[in-house]
Amino acid sequence: MSSSFLSGKVFLLVTGASQGIGRQIAQSFAPLLGDDSSVLLIARNAGGLQETVNKLPRGLSVHTASIDLSTATAHKLKDVINKVLGAAGAMQFEKAVVVHNAASIGDLTKSTVAMTDFKIWQEYYDLNVFAPAVLNGVFMEIFNDYTKVVRLVINISSFNAIQPYEFMGYYCSGKAAREMFFKVFAIENPNVNVLNYSPGPVDTDMLHAVHTYTSEVKHEETKKFMKNRHVLTTEQTVTRLLEVLKLQKYKSGSHVDYYNN
Ligand SMILES: NC(=O)c1ccc[n+]([C@@H]2O[C@H](COP(=O)([O-])OP(=O)(O)OC[C@H]3O[C@@H](n4cnc5c(N)ncnc54)[C@H](OP(=O)(O)O)[C@@H]3O)[C@@H](O)[C@H]2O)c1
Repeated sequence: MSSSFLSGKVFLLVTGASQGIGRQIAQSFAPLLGDDSSVLLIARNAGGLQETVNKLPRGLSVHTASIDLSTATAHKLKDVINKVLGAAGAMQFEKAVVVHNAASIGDLTKSTVAMTDFKIWQEYYDLNVFAPAVLNGVFMEIFNDYTKVVRLVINISSFNAIQPYEFMGYYCSGKAAREMFFKVFAIENPNVNVLNYSPGPVDTDMLHAVHTYTSEVKHEETKKFMKNRHVLTTEQTVTRLLEVLKLQKYKSGSHVDYYNN
């Protein structure tokens, strides 16, 4: 995969594209797509998705689906993608790119010993672990011929997939499980380019939610780390993501952080 990894006729799917990093991914990737490419943006907030669409180049074929990924079935996801593909189907595209970006932070008031409600665990994992796994399977089933379609899978991971923080048991464990899923997927599928990208601390609603609760943190290391972090803009982190993809120095499935060389 070279500098032209988004050239040609591309099918691009971005989850969590109604705001934050997902919106920026759509905005930064879209101008690089070749003629007749299609973009599918998924999130719950239809108004937010439309705002993202308004930021994309005119003339591009952009579709939105207002879906709660924590409850969407494989059948529903397949249906949404197939509707965008139309009669010409998946093989009309040279490349298929899926960005698993949607996520939630979870309840930041709970220490691990207080995380005793199965229902809350299940709801958290439904969105953050099971939904990207199911969507990924559906996507691969549709774009199943690697001799015709080059496939790129980007999981938006986190430093928290490898680094524990106090009061972030849901988020850290979810990010770790999700990243490991994509590592297994990568070794099973050598014909798919898989990247687990950790975007650094980025100025979005999610980071604001984390900051609201940092006063609860007593662990000195965590506190120090959070205080000293330089917050990035969504544009900075997505520009770095594009550079990582262009350079192709990573082994498929590996974890690449914004700050990695
Ligand atoms: N910001 C950071 O510092 C940071 C650091 C490391 C990793 N990350 C990762 O970066 C990714 C993007 O986060 P962000 O900071 O941009 O957060 P954000 O601003 O909170 O955006 C989260 C996105 O996920 C979507 N989403 C949430 N629940 C959903 C659901 N049930 N169904 C469908 N979509 C849903 C939201 O859309 P709707 O509400 O419209 O559904 C929104 O578009 C996440 O994977 C996050 O873990 C962020």
